[in-house]
Amino acid sequence: MSDMTVTLAHEADFAGWRAATRSLAGRHIPPADIAWQVAARPESAALPAPDPAAARFTVPRAVMDLAAIMVQSALPERFALAYTLVYDHVMGVPTGESMAARMAGAKEDVLAQTRHLRDEIRQALSRHNAAAPYQGHVETTSHVPESNARFLTLQLSFAPWQLDMPDRTLRWTGHEMLREAPGQAPQPLDPTGLPPPALPMVPDLDIARITSLRAVALAAKTCLVCPMAAHATQTVFGEGRESARMMFVGEQPGDIEDRAGRPFVGPAGQLFDRALHEAGIGRDDTYVTNTVKHFKFRRTPTRRIHEKAGPAEIAACAPWLAAERRIIRPAVVVMLGVTAASALLGRAVTISRERSRIIAMEDGSDGLVTVHPSYLLRLPDEAARGREYDRFVNDLRLAATRLGPAVT
Ligand code: URA
Repeated sequence: MSDMTVTLAHEADFAGWRAATRSLAGRHIPPADIAWQVAARPESAALPAPDPAAARFTVPRAVMDLAAIMVQSALPERFALAYTLVYDHVMGVPTGESMAARMAGAKEDVLAQTRHLRDEIRQALSRHNAAAPYQGHVETTSHVPESNARFLTLQLSFAPWQLDMPDRTLRWTGHEMLREAPGQAPQPLDPTGLPPPALPMVPDLDIARITSLRAVALAAKTCLVCPMAAHATQTVFGEGRESARMMFVGEQPGDIEDRAGRPFVGPAGQLFDRALHEAGIGRDDTYVTNTVKHFKFRRTPTRRIHEKAGPAEIAACAPWLAAERRIIRPAVVVMLGVTAASALLGRAVTISRERSRIIAMEDGSDGLVTVHPSYLLRLPDEAARGREYDRFVNDLRLAATRLGPAVT
C-alpha cells in the first residue's frame, strides 16, 4: 500500500522525477511505498520537499540513462520502474528478473521509436520548404517525441515546428516548447527538464542543414563522437561575431580553455590578443575557433599535458568547423599553426613554406597560414622570440589588408 504520492508536472517530467527520486531514494523509501501520478494541471504538481537528512548518493551514468529511457516509454508504471532502478542501485540489490525483463523490453521499444522518429524527421526535412514552419505527424503513445524535441529544434535552427501525435501536439514557437492536448490549456515544457534522448543526437543530426551558429554550438556541446570528448571537461566551441569577416582557427583548446569553455584564453590566447592589438585588429570583430573542439591530453600525477590532435579527432570535428565557416562566411581565414592549416587546406603543410602569403580557399575566402602563438611561447631564445613575434604581427596585418571596406 503506497503511503506517499508524488505528483509530476507532466507526462515527460524527468526533472521532477529526478528531484523526487533524489529525496526519496536518499531516505531509502521502498518503491512499493510510493505512488507516482501526473498532475491534471502543471501547477498542481507536488514533489516531496528536499530532505536535508536524506543520504547523498551518486548513480552511474548508465543507470540514469536507463531511467531516462523508462520515463519516456509508453509503460504506465514507467516512473515507478525508473525509481526502482535507482533505489536498487542505492541499496546495492540486483533488480528482480521480471522487472529487468520489462525494462529491457521498454528500452528496445524506445530505441526503435527514436530511430523511427529521426528517420521520419530526416526524410520530411529533406522535402520541407524552409519558408513554412515544419509540421510532422507521428503515431506513438510514448514520450519519445518530447525527448527528441531538442533534436528537431536544433535541426531546424530554432525555427518554429509542430509535431502531432494521436493524443497531443508538441510545438516549438521559436521561443518556447508547448504541449497541447484536447481540452487542456497549452502547457509550457522546459526542454532541459525532459528526458535526454535514448540515442546520441550528434551522429544523427544533419549538421550541414543547420543554419544558425547558436544551434551548431549547442549541438556541438552534446558531441561525444570521439574518445577525447569523454575525457575533456567540455566542448570548447568557437566564439565571436556571427558577422565576423575574419576568422582565426587554432589547433585545440588547452588546459585553461578546457576549464573555461572558451577558446584562446590561456597563455597562448593572451599572446594572441596582444598581437591582434598591435596589428590593429579588435578580437571582438573576429571569430576565433579551433580545428578540434576538445582538449586532448595525457595525465601525469600533477598535470594534464597537451597532446597533438590526430587525424581521427580532426575528422570527427571537421563538420563543426565546416559549419562555422559556412555560416560565418569570413572574407579571411587565418590558420594558426600546422593542424589548422593541414585541416583547412586538406593536405600536408610546412609552415615555413606556406606562411605569410594569401592562399585562395575553395569557398572563395582568402586564407593565410601563420605560426601558432604557442610556438612563440616555446622559443627559448628571447631575441628569436622577439623576431618571430614581429613576423606574426606582420602576418596578422597582411591578413587584415584583405578585408577591404567593411560591409554595412
Ligand atoms: N591553443 C589553441 O590552438 N587553441 C586554444 O584555444 C588555446 C590554445
